[in-house]
Amino acid sequence: DWTSANVIDEQVERIRAQVGSARVICGLSGGVDSAVAAAIVQKAVGDQLTCVFVDHGLLREGEAEQVERDYVAATGVRLVVADERERFLEALDGVTDPETKRKIIGREFIRAFEAAERDIVAAAPEGEPVRFLVQGTLYPDVVESGGGEGAANIKSHHNVGGLPEDLEFELVEPLRTLFKDEVRAVGAELGLPEDMVWRQPFPGPGLGIRIIGAVTEERLEILRRADAIARDELTKAGLDRDIWQCPVVLLADVRSVGVQGDGRTYGHPVVLRPVSSEDAMTADWTRVPYETLAHISNRITNEVAEVNRVVLDVTSKPPGTIEWE
Ligand code: XMP
Repeated sequence: DWTSANVIDEQVERIRAQVGSARVICGLSGGVDSAVAAAIVQKAVGDQLTCVFVDHGLLREGEAEQVERDYVAATGVRLVVADERERFLEALDGVTDPETKRKIIGREFIRAFEAAERDIVAAAPEGEPVRFLVQGTLYPDVVESGGGEGAANIKSHHNVGGLPEDLEFELVEPLRTLFKDEVRAVGAELGLPEDMVWRQPFPGPGLGIRIIGAVTEERLEILRRADAIARDELTKAGLDRDIWQCPVVLLADVRSVGVQGDGRTYGHPVVLRPVSSEDAMTADWTRVPYETLAHISNRITNEVAEVNRVVLDVTSKPPGTIEWE
């Protein structure tokens, strides 16, 4: 019968048979799917696996550290970190159009991943070729075979770890038979960090599509701090499992007048976008208790000096998408 321990044992055996003594590569995104897939493969073939984490600088507070430190400690995977924050900031310099941002981030990601990949293949310390690439494909993706969240014709989705076009690797897909909740159970069984196992959906282009306006390091820092507060308060209120996700969006080109102490401020608004959903195809805005909204608003305006207004998005999907870009 179905237990996460059985699933792991079966996959470990299958992976060993498939891979033999060849080397394997896996892109980590910070998300649960790639993390669990890599952890199973690591259990099966140990250091034959090398993971690549492209730090594009668009993750939320603490997420890069979670991969680089906590995940490595929990799993023992061999990890190569590509610090590509400069590359992404430069490529995004002055860009405000949502689709252009998405395309740039997707393109730069593949370039960065391929560069890291080439280094690993070239180094090949064991002399064995790198022949396999791990993908965190889930059962629903296999069934839909369109893959992903189905909104691809509305927004060009970018999934971190997505396949380069000229793929010369065979795929290892240890999650192909699993649903999301099963992946989480397997992740917990493997001892992955709790925050990673229960992470809500987060888009591949990250905070790059939650800054309305051009992306700069300063704006990313503002948004990271506001987002961390919102997540912290929603967690404290026990709402994590009721809410599908709650993007926090920085309206970087909008300013409004405020007052703080004796002083006039002229700062930026952030938008809270809490949504309830089954599959992200449709969504309703979540009726977060006023108390919790008040805590979030007070804390953000007190702790993030550049933000002087917090607004709530009360639009369902459709007509609004979940992300603002
Ligand atoms: P939208 O904004 O289209 O979002 O209503 C639906 C769901 O998809 C997530 N999302 C993405 N996920 N790569 C991803 O992996 C992307 O490019 C991307 N864009 C949106 C979004 O967070 C929501 O859960």
